[in-house]
Amino acid sequence: MTIASPASSSKPHKDRNLALELVRATEAAAIAATPWVGAGDKNSADGAAVDAMRLQLATVNFDGVVVIGEGEKDQAPMLYNGERVGNGTGQKFDVAVDPIDGTRLAALGFNNALSVLAVADAGSMLDASSVFYMEKLVTGPEAADDVDLRLPVKENLRLIAKAKGLSISQLTVSVLDRDRHQDLVREIHEAGARTQAVIDGDVAAAIAAVRGNTGIDALMGIGGSPEGVVTACAIKALGGVIQGRLMPTSPEEQDRGLHAGLDMEKIYSTNDLVNSENCFFAATGITNGDLLKGVTVDSAKLTTQSIVMRSKTGTVRTIDAEHKITKWSQD
Ligand code: FBP
Repeated sequence: MTIASPASSSKPHKDRNLALELVRATEAAAIAATPWVGAGDKNSADGAAVDAMRLQLATVNFDGVVVIGEGEKDQAPMLYNGERVGNGTGQKFDVAVDPIDGTRLAALGFNNALSVLAVADAGSMLDASSVFYMEKLVTGPEAADDVDLRLPVKENLRLIAKAKGLSISQLTVSVLDRDRHQDLVREIHEAGARTQAVIDGDVAAAIAAVRGNTGIDALMGIGGSPEGVVTACAIKALGGVIQGRLMPTSPEEQDRGLHAGLDMEKIYSTNDLVNSENCFFAATGITNGDLLKGVTVDSAKLTTQSIVMRSKTGTVRTIDAEHKITKWSQD
């Protein structure tokens, strides 16, 4: 294959560097959460990450509105749904923040806690905040057009295996380790595939399911719907598919969802979750994980590892950064 200059390289890109700006916000959140890693205090870890992400976002040239945030304004003083973020100049965007995906992982010192941020054209992200849980099916590009959440688990596994040229026994499916998934895990095993239990953090697990060479072929089961929208933004750049079905846990939650215009019967596709071809995604490791290394600290510097993606070009960058400790210490 001949490698040529990209066709668009001579054209100006008014928003090309947004993901590279956004990564400062996930780096800041990950660094701010680090003193709380393993300290057993979820709220302080989350609060520190939220503060740092918000401060850093205020310096970025864009006019953002938080669609997926920390909750409604009365419970979330910062990065609440509807809050304006960015410095207010430039293009308008929807913003999904998850200052810590895996708050419990960070607080208890487990692997795989991440700081995550996704941005897409204004009006493109589904506001699913009224229904917290979503049943998800995530897999890579090979079987993206074949799978269907309405099909039995075994049939989806057969379709994924066929598209990948594998047998079902060669597939591994990530599933959040929850009692509600006992039947799902049994069905996966009965079909002949393996499971990988995820303690928390289904955004990183979903990314592993769509990227090649991770040993994970799919993610199945019920997780947060905000995380489903964030995952859709990453999938726009990586390829693959997420399908989601909202799972209200009470009649009141169902009513709130219906009132907000959500459909409990619908299978939401990647495009339904984020209807834009202009998505940016940034994540920084807080603790070590399969996707990213966690923050390290020594007497002179902090190191971070991040991944940034842009859907228009499909470029995925891993960014290792060293930060002078003096810039971050408070005393
Ligand atoms: P938080 O860090 O926001 O608590 O989310 C962690 C997480 O594991 C998500 O990745 C996942 O989608 C959701 O929680 C699952 O919810 P639950 O822990 O209630 O099963």
